[in-house]
Amino acid sequence: MVCNLLQGKKGIIFGALNEKSIAWKVAEKAYQQGGEFILTNAPAAIRFGEIDKLAESCNTEVIKADATDVKDLENLFSGAMDKYGRIDFLLHSIGMSPNVRKSIPYDEINYDFYHKTLDISALSFHKILQVARQMDAINDWGSVVALSYVAAQRTLYGYNDMADAKALLESIARSFGYIYGRDRKIRINTISQSPTMTTAGSGVKGFDSLVDFTERMSPLGNATAEECADYCVTLFSDLTRKVTMQNLFHDGGFSSMGMSARAMHQYDKSFRPCD
Ligand SMILES: NC(=O)c1ccc[n+]([C@@H]2O[C@H](COP(=O)([O-])OP(=O)(O)OC[C@H]3O[C@@H](n4cnc5c(N)ncnc54)[C@H](O)[C@@H]3O)[C@@H](O)[C@H]2O)c1
Repeated sequence: MVCNLLQGKKGIIFGALNEKSIAWKVAEKAYQQGGEFILTNAPAAIRFGEIDKLAESCNTEVIKADATDVKDLENLFSGAMDKYGRIDFLLHSIGMSPNVRKSIPYDEINYDFYHKTLDISALSFHKILQVARQMDAINDWGSVVALSYVAAQRTLYGYNDMADAKALLESIARSFGYIYGRDRKIRINTISQSPTMTTAGSGVKGFDSLVDFTERMSPLGNATAEECADYCVTLFSDLTRKVTMQNLFHDGGFSSMGMSARAMHQYDKSFRPCD
């Protein structure tokens, strides 16, 4: 449904790698709703990914930035401000764990990799917010969203050090949410999304089983990347101006469930769920 929810709003979208990326869907939906934005990703992701295709379809440009590098971020914000002045919305859709990639278990973790996980997946959010504040890059009543996962609150097998990164990410949203809200009425939230079949998601050990489990457990079913993008757009819009410092579950109800009939059926095949 197109209602021009983002008409006149300018933004920056981090993390569109390919068509499966949640950030890719957010860019498409934001564009449909009248938003204008710069796309950004790490230099290697731009080389190997498909972001130029997205930029063309959204009539915009890409500015490369490693989100762990403050100089790159300063360059990105100054490019965005040259084009738009201050921005109104920002999406942090960035995650990577070398420990997950290399299937190193949590109790044998490599600490250099652990630092990388935290730097890329969580500290990058702090760096983005700190640079944006120093450069006065976000308009009053702007909106910032980062993507999180329920492993910040609950232990899920295989999610490894990304669980620690998500807990930190959500805490940064609250800490900066206070400062930005107090001084500029800018809101900062995290969306805790269902497991979603993307490049980052499918790197998690046993991901297919996890997707099946959460689908069975969630009364509304898993939320797709497109549905997540719709939710992001509402948070960027003026319809949610007093929502801030929240971790918002977008997971079909999974996070409030203990056991469902459909999951029970997996353990007792004679059990006939009425759903
Ligand atoms: N897929 C899921 O199951 C799921 C569920 C909940 C939350 N999330 C979160 O959603 C976000 C987006 O992930 P996705 O599932 O769309 O996967 P994705 O692999 O498409 O996106 C991850 C992005 O992070 C970028 N990135 C990695 N290192 C970077 C760096 N140094 N600088 C800048 N960008 C960097 C990658 O290039 C990529 O574009 C992540 O924060 C992820 O943890 C994903």
